[in-house]
Amino acid sequence: MKGLSTDEILSIGLKLADMAEVPLDSGIHVPGEYIKRFILAMDVNVGLLHMAKQMGFDAVVGHHPCGVLLQRGEVYRRHIDLLEMYCIPRGKSMAALSESIDTIVRRMENNRFRMLHHECPNQTVLEVDAARMLNLPFMNIHNPFDEAGRRILQLKIDAAASKNPHWKLKDVLALIENLPEARYAKDVYGISPRLFIGDPETEASKVVFVHGALSAPHPAIIKFYWQNGFKTVVVLHGEFENLEKLRMEKQGNLILTGHFLGDSLGLTPFIRAIRQRGLEVACMGGIIDIQGYE
Ligand SMILES: [Fe+2]
Ligand SMILES: [Fe+2]
Repeated sequence: MKGLSTDEILSIGLKLADMAEVPLDSGIHVPGEYIKRFILAMDVNVGLLHMAKQMGFDAVVGHHPCGVLLQRGEVYRRHIDLLEMYCIPRGKSMAALSESIDTIVRRMENNRFRMLHHECPNQTVLEVDAARMLNLPFMNIHNPFDEAGRRILQLKIDAAASKNPHWKLKDVLALIENLPEARYAKDVYGISPRLFIGDPETEASKVVFVHGALSAPHPAIIKFYWQNGFKTVVVLHGEFENLEKLRMEKQGNLILTGHFLGDSLGLTPFIRAIRQRGLEVACMGGIIDIQGYE
């Protein structure tokens, strides 16, 4: 086995989400080939790169965006695409949300322009420079895994809802808790999904998993789903103040999967595909490796 190149690893990731182009939050920062074993980590820093080199790994693949990727914020606009996929007309979403989304995208672009480490730890040029000096191939794949994970959980949600149209919030929570990634997140990290807003005995009605647009939706997007027929919104996580405000307003139901669980849903098929090609992959830093755990 001669191993894979960084390009080949990236195309395996893209294929999982049927993507033809590399999204702006993903990229190969230090290319390489003949990769037979690599570390897969949620976030990558200089220490991790050094450890990988010392332990004889051929590459490091991160999930969250690394390196410059100045325009990564653009991927946040995908929230409008997600709304459209969930049958909310584009014009209506744009009228309600385009201004707030635009502000968020421009704020992120400014952060990248400023390159202040405390604003974006592990997202500077330092990691890329270190990988280059270590002669260690380094890349990150973000949106394809998030999109793949969104599809996986939404399909499960839709299947469960069609079997039991009057299902309750506690049933939605149970569905998430029974995912193999959830069992691992609970046993290994002690983190479980939460019913954040809503009574467990309430009917869930229409349930949407909002994931795959760079980061979790801001409150206006969550409320927009509530106002457009989705009584129950599932997201990975949210900022404390935003969640508190939403809880006070109580306009709909909100379930939090937890970050590691939610992100790992789309990584599981990638890990499987990589191992099928004969490569060795070591998962770290929140990426859940369910093989041998199910
Ligand atoms: Fe993610
Ligand atoms: Fe994430």
